[in-house]
Amino acid sequence: MAKDVEHLVVAIDGPAGSGKSTVSKLVAKSLGLLYIDTGAMYRALTLKALRSGIDLDDADAVTALARSTRIDLKEEGGSLRVYLDGEDVSLDIRTPELTNKVKHVARIPSVRAEMVKQQRAIGERSGAVLEGRDIGTVVFPDAKFKFYLDADVEERARRRYKELVEANQKVEFEDIKKDVLLRDESDMKRDVGALKKAADAIFVDTTHLSVEEVVNRLLSYIR
Ligand code: DC
Repeated sequence: MAKDVEHLVVAIDGPAGSGKSTVSKLVAKSLGLLYIDTGAMYRALTLKALRSGIDLDDADAVTALARSTRIDLKEEGGSLRVYLDGEDVSLDIRTPELTNKVKHVARIPSVRAEMVKQQRAIGERSGAVLEGRDIGTVVFPDAKFKFYLDADVEERARRRYKELVEANQKVEFEDIKKDVLLRDESDMKRDVGALKKAADAIFVDTTHLSVEEVVNRLLSYIR
């Protein structure tokens, strides 16, 4: 890693379907930094809670689980693999059923505190591109570069729909759009770690931009 990017933290926030994941991955690759998908961490914890039969609204039980769970994100063959206590759960955490349940876990303040602690530890070790909802506001409020990506809801739903169809899931566009709107609501109305643009984040509307255009725009600010 070049000396000037060592310990560099890039925060990328935005709602579901704003293009964060694709863009963050490419920005991290281009800078030679680790890529941290914080949504995958909330997803993996939700999966473990469901498998353990824990009530997702039981704050104490889910917090205890968060503290005793090991979540690793590893780059393998160009894609990010997510390990839950050593088991590869990369596919299990992306089903629509699981996706709709993450909000229960993500709204528990003590669970978020534990996740934030783990995310800071990873980011501080070697620098990283972190993507999520509260990176620029809570996890790394002093990040050197902060971006907030957004796009029209129709376009965000269209992207999610395409992803799911490509993953051979049987879904209806209108259902996906409803899910995206519901997720916006739960992300923005949480008491802690709510989705919001940090005052000093650079806003990028990705509705009419290609992935390459967004990546280049972000890199032009960073370089
Ligand atoms: O980015 P994603 O769609 O994979 O995120 C999954 C869920 O996790 C989503 O409901 C929002 C939540 N999340 C969060 O609360 N805080 C983060 N930093 C990242 C994701």
